[in-house]
Amino acid sequence: MNILLIGSGGREHALAWKMAQSKKLDKLYIAPGNAGTSSIGQNVDIKPTDFEQTGKFVIENNIDMVVVGPEDPLVKGIHDYFLETPALKKIAVIGPQKEGAMLEGSKHFAKQFMFRHHIPTARYHSVNKDTMEDGLKFLEQLRPPYVLKADGLAAGKGVLIIDTMEDAKAELQAMLTGKFGVAGNTVVIEEFLSGIELSVFIITDGESYKILPDAKDYKKIGKGDTGLNTGGMGAVSPVPFVDKTFLKKIEDSIIRPTVEGLKKENILYQGFLYFGLINCKGDPFVIEYNARMGDPEAEVVLPRISSDIVELFEGVASKNLASKTVDIIPGSVTTVMLVSGGYPGSYEKGKVIENLNQTDGCIVFHAGTKLTDGKVVTNGGRVISLTACGRNFKEALANCYRNAGIVKFDKMYYRPDIGFDL
Ligand code: AMP
Ligand code: GLY
Repeated sequence: MNILLIGSGGREHALAWKMAQSKKLDKLYIAPGNAGTSSIGQNVDIKPTDFEQTGKFVIENNIDMVVVGPEDPLVKGIHDYFLETPALKKIAVIGPQKEGAMLEGSKHFAKQFMFRHHIPTARYHSVNKDTMEDGLKFLEQLRPPYVLKADGLAAGKGVLIIDTMEDAKAELQAMLTGKFGVAGNTVVIEEFLSGIELSVFIITDGESYKILPDAKDYKKIGKGDTGLNTGGMGAVSPVPFVDKTFLKKIEDSIIRPTVEGLKKENILYQGFLYFGLINCKGDPFVIEYNARMGDPEAEVVLPRISSDIVELFEGVASKNLASKTVDIIPGSVTTVMLVSGGYPGSYEKGKVIENLNQTDGCIVFHAGTKLTDGKVVTNGGRVISLTACGRNFKEALANCYRNAGIVKFDKMYYRPDIGFDL
């Protein structure tokens, strides 16, 4: 089978690496990919949201399946585009259609969905420019800190956690008057939930689902979870505090009602679904849904799956996922992200990355890299994801950090304390 994978980050390198182990794979293309994916398949210079070029490439290269990594093309409707285009409608697309991707693309839609299906989540109120007064009143009912979320995609920057009422009111006004562009035309005001966060993933064909290994990512740039939010600085799988009882609560109160809810609403969802959860005194609540795998969670979850992922994708496409199995490798897998100095603010690109082939006992997943004159250079904020395994997460992390001391590039930074809270 020929597969086109869409995206260019560490998640996509991990997906490419996992798919390359399948006996079902003939040729793998990655659009646009990075320096890491080019050693596994063939990179193709097409933007993830250029559906027309993607469709043309798929026809010309006899592609059988398209696997969508990031949210942008899903929320913009790449799967719908394929279904609506006669020459493409038989191609398998792994990733939900636009309506299902709204679970990530609109926080307001996601909150309404959760309330309709009695899925535990924080109390909320959504407002727009015309109903700002209601929003100010709702804020008065809450205790600090206050949570404000831009409704639409805002590249992970659209959520504000604010300590004082005065600042919350000012920020609400700023958001409704364009601080995050159209993404903030609607703002979701939420009750703050306190607890420890974790991520759970499923793959579904719209009928049945398989639970994948759970993971915890570290979003803040600084030691001890301080400073600005990033795409993710590292991850651990499994999450030590997720025992059978807690996982059963997650499945009964969140996963099953979500899949059943989608079915009841006639939203055919085929692909990965990511549950961003918070453990509040032993009970799981949903913080967010994502319509894709997490990044860097994919870099720890996929290496723990021993089953053939392409077979699972076939099950998703032909709606017989129930007949497949997902086997999990015991032990822990962790990842530490090497990032460009200055990230998540401004940073330089084009730094030569050294010693990549001197790493030992880890998998090097490329995130923001490209090949220039035969050399691998930095090409983004998050650059390299060093993934390693161990009998437990401490052993796995020791392997990651040993290798973080080997790879080098100018102004490289990484968090020294992934897993510090576990
Ligand atoms: P989101 O993009 O919705 O995942 O929000 C980004 C981050 O904000 C989450 O990972 C949480 O750390 C935090 N957050 C979002 N909503 C809440 C909430 N209701 N209570 C506490 N923290 C939240
Ligand atoms: N690691 C967080 C995300 O993928 O959204």
